[in-house]
Amino acid sequence: MNLTPDLRLDGRVVLVTGASRGLGRAMALGFAAAGADVVVSSRKLDACEVVADEIRVMGRRSIAVQCHVGNWDECESLVNAAVAEFGRIDVLVNNAGIAPVPPSITGITEELFDRTIAVDLKGPVRLTGLVAVHMPAGGSIINISSTASVRNTPFTAVYGAAKAALNSFGQAAALELGPKGIRVNTIVCGPFLTDSFSKVVPTPESVVALAATRALGRIAEPEEIIGTALFLASDASAYMTGALLALDGG
Ligand SMILES: NC(=O)c1ccc[n+]([C@@H]2O[C@H](COP(=O)([O-])OP(=O)(O)OC[C@H]3O[C@@H](n4cnc5c(N)ncnc54)[C@H](OP(=O)(O)O)[C@@H]3O)[C@@H](O)[C@H]2O)c1
Repeated sequence: MNLTPDLRLDGRVVLVTGASRGLGRAMALGFAAAGADVVVSSRKLDACEVVADEIRVMGRRSIAVQCHVGNWDECESLVNAAVAEFGRIDVLVNNAGIAPVPPSITGITEELFDRTIAVDLKGPVRLTGLVAVHMPAGGSIINISSTASVRNTPFTAVYGAAKAALNSFGQAAALELGPKGIRVNTIVCGPFLTDSFSKVVPTPESVVALAATRALGRIAEPEEIIGTALFLASDASAYMTGALLALDGG
């Protein structure tokens, strides 16, 4: 019996989407620090190469792969590239996400709707199906969701609805993949200081006002997602699946 489960990921292969910056980059570096080899992916190959270089400097293997997660075929190419390099994928983090802000409910365009659903829902669904084929028992899939998925707000209607659907998909995937020994969990993020946050909350006044809505009274740094991500990726959470974990400052 192991009375001191740890968060190490030595020898494991982790694929992180949206890993060029923000929460994805923080998790990619955190996984590498815990001993994992990491596939770094986003739409911009150059930016991913920078993160992959940082990981190699840490002594881990890493490849950068370009992929727009809303593109069905690019998702397949991403998984094929990861498997060609590492032979398997132990952890998938469906992190890539966008939160475009429509002017109002009546101002939602078909383009905004389709783009949001493609990145925030279609990509994770496609990648989960592809990766599960190559994931051994003990594997872990982590979806990155938002508090807007459980308590939506004005101007995040489509984003929150897409993330709510992602929460729902994660529960179905957990049930379906559980017998294969694959776990699927969702981190429901509150506000973190990243590029996308700054687009949605652009002024210092609005940042202060949002921080005041948190029990802890502040916005999180990107690195503050690493502990929860390592917990869900590692055997420390071996009996947890289908869960929604709030990481939102209360
Ligand atoms: N920050 C917050 O306050 C907050 C709160 C709740 C939930 N979240 C969720 O956390 C996740 C990460 O957000 P973040 O704040 O770190 O955002 P971010 O700083 O804007 O980074 C987004 C990442 O996703 C990539 N990306 C964007 N569109 C993509 C696409 N179509 N295909 C593949 N990659 C794409 C970006 O890289 P490229 O531009 O190179 O593609 C970048 O690496 C998202 O799912 C977001 O919804 C964030």
